[in-house]
Amino acid sequence: MTIATARLDLREMSEADMPALAAILTDPVAMVAYEGAFSAGEVEEWLHRQRERYARDGFGLWAVVLRASGEMIGQCGITLQRIDDDEVTEVGYLFQRAHWHRGYALEAAAACRDWAFGALPLDDLYAKVRSTNVASMNVAIRLGMTVRRTFTTHYRGVDMPHLAFAVSRAAWERRAPERTA
Ligand SMILES: CC(C)(COP(=O)(O)OP(=O)(O)OC[C@H]1O[C@@H](n2cnc3c(N)ncnc32)[C@H](O)[C@@H]1OP(=O)(O)O)[C@@H](O)C(=O)NCCC(=O)NCCS
Repeated sequence: MTIATARLDLREMSEADMPALAAILTDPVAMVAYEGAFSAGEVEEWLHRQRERYARDGFGLWAVVLRASGEMIGQCGITLQRIDDDEVTEVGYLFQRAHWHRGYALEAAAACRDWAFGALPLDDLYAKVRSTNVASMNVAIRLGMTVRRTFTTHYRGVDMPHLAFAVSRAAWERRAPERTA
């Protein structure tokens, strides 16, 4: 599974990506919305969860590689998530801090959105965003999403108010000229 955008290539992550993955997941600033930096063990678990998703679902969070340098600068992809009692399909995005604010998250996430509506029988694509995560909300809005509801998760011992952003297939089709593929 690979997706190409103007500047980026998305592909499955492997053990070789552990250092680049750790650069994101052990950064306390990047991980504020996840209640702090991950330990080395939590990074390993995260990678194994994505590899289980590739095998079971055919998708997961993929490595985002800067084509010009070959460097993995982030993760972006599609996962199955729960919101209250519902299972939803979500686009997720986490990037190394050194590469923020250059449009990479939006470029990768828009390509994943277009891949998801093209490849999967979805009515809606979601983004679960913690209520404090303004950067993520703005990416969701730029993906054509609106807020559907609020909900609370319990993660790492903390109650976390969240917003459920989503874009419908009908709205995505109306935005066709802006699509990446
Ligand atoms: C969320 C995240 C992926 C955004 O990455 P990014 O590469 O900076 O985003 P982009 O450059 O593609 O920006 C796209 C839009 O997002 C918005 N945005 C990005 N960072 C922002 C910030 N700190 N504050 C407000 N808006 C922000 C802007 O509206 C931007 O549009 P613009 O180019 O017109 O300004 C990045 O901040 C990140 O990795 N955060 C940590 C992990 C995380 O919380 N992921 C989301 C979990 S739900």
